[in-house]
Amino acid sequence: MTQSLTLRTAPLSVSPAGIVVLYVAEGAAPSGQAAALWGATGLDFARVAGAAGFGGKQGQLLDIAAPPGLDVTRLFVLGAGKAEPERPASPAAWTDRGGSLAAKLGAANAEAASVVLDGATPEQVAALAAGLKLRQYRFDKYKTRKNGDRTPETLAVTLHVADPAAADAAIASRLAAVDGTLLARELVNEPANVLGTEEFAARAAELSALGVAVETLGEPELRALGMHALLAVAQGSVRPPRLVVMRWSNGAPGTPPVAFVGKGVVFDSGGISIKPAAGMEDMKGDMGGAAAVTGLLQALAARKAKVNAVGVIGLVENMPSGTAMRPGDIVRAASGTTIEIVNTDAEGRLVLADALWYVQEKLKPRAVIDLATLTGAIGVALGSDHAGLFANNDELAAQLVGAGLATGEKLWRMPLGPAYDKLIESRFADIKNSAGRPAGAITAAQFLARFVGDVPWAHLDIAGVSLGPPASETNASWAPGFGVALLDRYVRDVLEPK
Ligand code: BES
Ligand code: MN
Ligand code: ZN
Repeated sequence: MTQSLTLRTAPLSVSPAGIVVLYVAEGAAPSGQAAALWGATGLDFARVAGAAGFGGKQGQLLDIAAPPGLDVTRLFVLGAGKAEPERPASPAAWTDRGGSLAAKLGAANAEAASVVLDGATPEQVAALAAGLKLRQYRFDKYKTRKNGDRTPETLAVTLHVADPAAADAAIASRLAAVDGTLLARELVNEPANVLGTEEFAARAAELSALGVAVETLGEPELRALGMHALLAVAQGSVRPPRLVVMRWSNGAPGTPPVAFVGKGVVFDSGGISIKPAAGMEDMKGDMGGAAAVTGLLQALAARKAKVNAVGVIGLVENMPSGTAMRPGDIVRAASGTTIEIVNTDAEGRLVLADALWYVQEKLKPRAVIDLATLTGAIGVALGSDHAGLFANNDELAAQLVGAGLATGEKLWRMPLGPAYDKLIESRFADIKNSAGRPAGAITAAQFLARFVGDVPWAHLDIAGVSLGPPASETNASWAPGFGVALLDRYVRDVLEPK
């Protein structure tokens, strides 16, 4: 069952309640406020830790029920890993710490907890709060509650910090991005019978409540713009295509926006080049790029980011039918480039070709960043620990890699070049939409590059990281909502005035 979480901060002077949580580094004893609380128990730390085999390793738990001298139900001493500065903890490590804590509180059926964090900076406190909330998220709305489920309906966590006002400000800003991640997860986790193109567009339109200007283009508008690549993908489905444009304009007036573009294939059957049955259900998540862009725009608006940003998502469904595009078909994209469709399962690049043209033509952005569950090949290359990064600009690439390291949503740069571009030449048209298996993620990126002009551009192939990666400290559901935290951080660190 989804448990509602309330998070608040309190000064160190407030007495803890419920489960009190202390962090202790490897080989160390409690210090600061933690030492004061431990002292109240009258227990000998070295003796208790020794008997329990607690050494302070990251994730280790020393659990003392009804500790003497304290009016709390349990005392959790959690391992904090190697002491800083030997291993300076990144914000991502603090987020993982929060996730791990949420799991341990869940296992203890906790209703209230007090976490002692006097040594942490406001940013570290906010990162821990983010991890708590991320791990708490469940996608279980379609599961009937079982008899005997003892999960309490609410969990109230108090973070005891040295400077509550500073922590509150950092938490509010970080949780805006968390909520964006949770929106992205929800969109990806929803099955395609519930979330079609129109339903997705309706969810995006709800961002107007936060001050985002949302415009939705339907089939007649897309036809008038000449977006025949995107339309070719949609033509086999009864679900109509949508292009949703979300603008958040809170930066210096007149400065060009940064544009985020997302692949939004609400279900990818492969079309006439149909996919094998095994695992096809995962293709309900082939809109992970569009979900991340939508979550990001929500985050930027919720925290009133001082930036001009635009999100553009191409929403289609790729189905086989009597009206579907066929292998061999040739279409003209909005840019004028003709495309021979040799594989109808290489549909994401067709959607992005027209969406990328749209943002450059209509918005004149300072930079373009697209996100797409584009190729299985990127998962073969990088697994699920890094998303693939392709860029025509070294500075933009380095900025994104840095944001990845800070958030834990890591990127690994892949090559582009004329030798790969040659592979997508077509016998009949300007280019073809697939060059087969060799370098599959690169030739897909190379295809996109044909639709990008002089603007700094980065393409994130998130197919390996977005759909059911191995369990992590911060996600207990299938979809991680990859990209929202990363790009929120990029906007904050690179685009917003300090
Ligand atoms: N949506 C898929 C890519 C994908 C695969 C995403 C696995 C997530 C998990 C994409 O549209 C696709 O089918 N790509 C093909 C390209 C090929 C036909 C050139 C692929 O990866 O096999
Ligand atoms: Mn496909
Ligand atoms: Zn696809």
